[in-house]
This record gives sequence, structure tokens and C-alpha cells, in this order.
Amino acid sequence: MKDLVKQARAAMQHAWAPYSNFHVGAAIEAADGTVYVGCNVESASYGLTICAERMALGAAVVGGARTLKRLVVTTDVDPPAAPCGACRQLLAEFGLDLEVTAVGPATEKRWTLAALLPDAFTKETLDR
Ligand code: THU
Repeated sequence: MKDLVKQARAAMQHAWAPYSNFHVGAAIEAADGTVYVGCNVESASYGLTICAERMALGAAVVGGARTLKRLVVTTDVDPPAAPCGACRQLLAEFGLDLEVTAVGPATEKRWTLAALLPDAFTKETLDR
């Protein structure tokens, strides 16, 4: 876990957030132990902004990962910031068992993705 926090914090250093000045880092550990990182990237056309979690998820997917174990999100705020709704939904694509940990400078909080996204709309919903 310490290593994931380290990697998320390192990614956070690369955040491009000149508009919000809210820097976010993310690290996802896949089933085989590989770690994929992301940071938020903002745009002068604000709506194009990409969250750190979705960046990390994209890196994991293009890296070939399909089973994800843990996600660590780092910010500079306490209580720590949990992933936004859009990120929760995209993460749900790869399973609700994902362990999500939000880490601030002094505190951390942990959930399963299932707890963060109750009654999730998933591919199983489409098969009903
Ligand atoms: N942000 C993330 O990177 N992840 C989240 O889950 C919520 C928000 C970013 C987007 C934007 O660059 C900044 O934080 C402020 O919203």
C-alpha cells in the first residue's frame, strides 16, 4: 500500500491543473501486481478535463490489464477526496470489488467500489 501511495503522489507531481490548482494522483494495482498511474489534466476548455483516476484506468487498459485490485487516489486535502461519480462509473466496468483508498496529507479513507457506487449500472445490467 505504501508503494502505491508513493506512486500516486509521484504522479500527482505531474498534474496539469492551472485552473483549479487541485492536484490529483492515482495509482492502480492490477491482479499481476503491475501498477498504472495517472494525474489530472485540465484544459482551457474546462469541460475537457480528465481526472487522475480515469487517466490511470486508461493506462491500465492499454497496458492490457483487465482485473484491477486496488486504486489509491492522492490529493492535498483532508478529509481525503474520493473519486468523482464519472470515475466511479468507468471503474465499475472492471468490477465492483476494487479496493479504493483516498489519501490526504494526514488521513486516509478506504472503501470498496461497490460501497462508493451502490446499485451500479454495469454490463450485468445489460444482460438482464
Ligand atoms: N479531479 C480528479 O482528478 N479526480 C476526481 O475524482 C475529482 C476531480 C480533478 C479534475 C480537476 O482537474 C480538478 O480535480 C478539480 O475538479
